[in-house]
Amino acid sequence: MIVAIVNQKGGTGKTTIAVNLAFGTANAKYPTALVDADTQATCLHFYGNQDIENLTVCSAGDDVRETVQQLSKDHRFVFIDTAPHDNDSMYLAMVTADLIIIPTRPRPFDLHSSEKVVEMLRSIENEYGYTPCYFLLNQVKHGTILGRETLDYIQHNFELPVLKTQIHDYEIYGQAPLSGQSVFLYAPKHKAAQELRNLLREMNKIYKSQ
Ligand SMILES: Nc1ncnc2c1ncn2[C@@H]1O[C@H](COP(=O)(O)OP(=O)(O)OP(=O)(O)O)[C@@H](O)[C@H]1O
Ligand SMILES: [Mg+2]
Repeated sequence: MIVAIVNQKGGTGKTTIAVNLAFGTANAKYPTALVDADTQATCLHFYGNQDIENLTVCSAGDDVRETVQQLSKDHRFVFIDTAPHDNDSMYLAMVTADLIIIPTRPRPFDLHSSEKVVEMLRSIENEYGYTPCYFLLNQVKHGTILGRETLDYIQHNFELPVLKTQIHDYEIYGQAPLSGQSVFLYAPKHKAAQELRNLLREMNKIYKSQ
C-alpha cells in the first residue's frame, strides 16, 4: 500500500504522521519504506542514519514516482512525506498513491488552506481516475468539542470523507524524535500509540475495501 501524506499548508503534521505510521507498520514486522519528498528533509535528518528493523528511510530523489514504484516492489507499505508549497512533488506523490491522507488541524484557517490540495485531487481524478482520499484531524485538543462544525465544513467545502480516527495533541510527538524514535518505540503504551494503531487499522480497511 502506497500512502501519500499531503497538505499545501505547512505544519499540519504531515511528517509526524508519516514517520509514526511508518514505524508502526515496521514495528508490526511489515517491510516499510518512508520516502522523504520534502527538501527540508526532516525524515532523513532524524531517521536516515539509523538501522531500523523493517524500515527503509530514503529520499524521493529526482522522481518520486519512480522511487516509490521501485520501493513498492519489496516493501508492503510505502509512506510518502511531502513538502508544503511544492505542487510538483505533491502532485506526483498523489498520482502514485493508493491512499491519500490530508492531515489538518481542526482550525478554520488550516482547513481553508487545504483548498489547493483538494483542487489538485480533483484534477488528478479527472486524469487518472479515483483514488481514496481522506482528511485526518490532527492535534485535536482533549476537552474541546469539535462538534459538527469542523466535519460540516469539510463536507460542505471539499466533499471529502474524514477518517474516524482522530490524532490528539500529545507532547510525546515532539519528544520522541529527539531520541530518534517514534511514539511506538518511545512509549508503546501511550494513548498516542493506540490512536496510531487505530489509524493504521482504519486505513487498511479502506484499502482492502477498494
Ligand atoms: N498530534 C500532535 N500532537 C502534538 N504535536 C504535534 C502533533 N502533530 C504534529 N505536532 C507538532 O507540530 C509541529 C509540526 O508538525 P510536522 O512537522 O509534522 O508538520 P508538517 O506538516 O510536516 O510541517 P511542514 O509543512 O513544515 O513539513 C511539530 O513540532 C510536531 O511535533
Ligand atoms: Mg514536514
